[in-house]
Amino acid sequence: MFVVGRRCPSLYGRSVANLLLTPKGLLKMQFFGDMSDQSFWNNFYTSRQGNKHFDWFVHFEDVSGYLVPYLPSLGNNCPIPRIIDIGCGTSDFSLKLFDHLKRKCHIDLVDFSPEAIKIMQKILLEQGLLKKSVNPEDFPGIACHRADAKNLPFKEHTFSLALDKGTSDAVLKGTEGETAFVDVVQESLRVLKPSGKLIQFSDEPPETNFKTKNCNLRFIWRELEINSGFQHFMYVVHKENC
Ligand SMILES: C[S@@+](CC[C@H](N)C(=O)[O-])C[C@H]1O[C@@H](n2cnc3c(N)ncnc32)[C@H](O)[C@@H]1O
Repeated sequence: MFVVGRRCPSLYGRSVANLLLTPKGLLKMQFFGDMSDQSFWNNFYTSRQGNKHFDWFVHFEDVSGYLVPYLPSLGNNCPIPRIIDIGCGTSDFSLKLFDHLKRKCHIDLVDFSPEAIKIMQKILLEQGLLKKSVNPEDFPGIACHRADAKNLPFKEHTFSLALDKGTSDAVLKGTEGETAFVDVVQESLRVLKPSGKLIQFSDEPPETNFKTKNCNLRFIWRELEINSGFQHFMYVVHKENC
């Protein structure tokens, strides 16, 4: 069941950021450092070694049922839909989404960590998925971009769907947290088409009474039913409601 609310960063839940769900399912205490910092993530991806995927707290299979109602149409007369994955890391979430959409879309993967982008490019090359064409409107595929989520290298009104899995959570945990969070959300909305949607998967719970000065967007949200022992949420923003 979805609930209408106002998505505002909350203080509650940040301690969860200090717990990392490892690939073996064990919870490990991490002395994380600044999760909004590029070097933090570079070290993280470098330390993992090899061209491997790492998926932050939820997998595509966990949430595909929730996501389907918000996916762009694939009709014969529709233009190839464009999707952006903001802070993709080395997750295979968008690769699975690409397959789910019968490879009839164009997905732009964006991360500010060069290490994450390097690994993703290698994986995509190995799988023959890396997009080479310069005109994404005409051909489906997946492209990688090293860029800051606060300054995306795309024109406004480009995408039907923007995905953010754990990225604005990480941004929020930095020293400039709330301001940077608002910047990321605003930039995500800028590159969306007027009918586009921003979907966040987050460990931050909804709070209706804790508002940052600039972030007062109308969201619908739901808690994800995932057996991880932690709370995770899905937030949906319809740009036309903003
Ligand atoms: C919690 S991880 C999630 C990664 C991926 N979405 C997943 O689900 O596995 C956060 C990711 O956001 C990226 N990130 C953090 N701040 C960013 C920013 N300002 N611009 C672009 N990427 C950013 C990090 O490099 C990292 O890959």
